[in-house]
Amino acid sequence: MSTLLQIKNLRTYFFTDEGVVKAVDGVSFEIEEGRTLGVVGESGCGKSVTARSIIKLLSTAGRIVSGEILYNMDGQMVDLVKFSKEEIRKVRGRHIAMIFQEPMAAFSPVYTIGDQITEGMIYHFGITKQEARERAVELLRRVGIPKPEKMIDSYPFEYSGGMRQRAMIAMALSCNPRLLIADEPTTALDVTIQAQVLDLLKDLQQEYKMAIMMITHNMGVVAEMADHVVVMYLGRVVESAPVEELFYNPKHPYTSLLLRSIPVVGKRVERLEVIEGDVPDPRNMPKGCRFHPRCPYMMKGICDEREPVEVEVGPEHRVSCFLYGGEKDGAS
Ligand SMILES: Nc1ncnc2c1ncn2[C@@H]1O[C@H](COP(=O)(O)OP(=O)(O)OP(=O)(O)O)[C@@H](O)[C@H]1O
Ligand SMILES: [Mg+2]
Repeated sequence: MSTLLQIKNLRTYFFTDEGVVKAVDGVSFEIEEGRTLGVVGESGCGKSVTARSIIKLLSTAGRIVSGEILYNMDGQMVDLVKFSKEEIRKVRGRHIAMIFQEPMAAFSPVYTIGDQITEGMIYHFGITKQEARERAVELLRRVGIPKPEKMIDSYPFEYSGGMRQRAMIAMALSCNPRLLIADEPTTALDVTIQAQVLDLLKDLQQEYKMAIMMITHNMGVVAEMADHVVVMYLGRVVESAPVEELFYNPKHPYTSLLLRSIPVVGKRVERLEVIEGDVPDPRNMPKGCRFHPRCPYMMKGICDEREPVEVEVGPEHRVSCFLYGGEKDGAS
């Protein structure tokens, strides 16, 4: 197994009139070739900003201020942070594709689905419009769009929500990417269709041998899809472990609380109401461990004073918490 993507100490900040939002503030993790990484954490913890940093789809206020995003491009690790706009365009879609929660945001309303799916193939592969169209019809068929030779000429508003989601997956796969970033790809769908889309993604992953970065609030989705999981809190990774290890042997108090939020089958949970207290404002981070104001195991004088460092607690299992010795070199 080899590393496809390695993020090292990534910091992405937004420079707003109200101050600097440290949305991603020292994030590190790896994605192995062909495997699925689950990224979980409450709303606002920086999951989407991390994902968008990878392919530089940030709003103008957002900037990667430090860190590396190393991508294994045909056997060589290249740092995407250093890539120019033009260079990153060649990566986007072709190497790393992204699907979103709301497919309307990915499609323009004024072009047909077919025009939008073929655009990337024509750009990246230099094939003809007709060749791209044939491939697009096959892709639409593969993702379960009925009558694809007809639907290819329809506009996004003529598709149902679930069908649009499938069409977005077809578009993301059209250039055979090595990494698919899926940002809450099923939250907007009803439960039955959610399950179908997840199954489809799993099948396509086998066929296309691609890695998936699966961002979700839903621990049930993580259990079903992920090989390895990173848990984020306020712009940091607080725990990282193989999926079974994370579920059976969670170490960080935040992870344990997240696990209690696994939704009952058929019931949708989008916000984690079981964890007391609000997520603090990222413009005004708590001193010490960022989770300490909400942590049931908070140790006064330690957790509210210093920042924990990451410690290894098992094979591929790392946690940033003073309960596991994070205090040794934990000067902030
Ligand atoms: N364009 C922006 N300008 C200013 N702040 C932003 C911008 N985009 C995101 N942020 C802030 O960055 C932080 C991280 O946001 P992000 O969207 O990555 O969260 P998330 O983990 O994806 O949440 P959710 O689960 O709700 O999608 C939040 O505090 C958010 O308000
Ligand atoms: Mg998000």
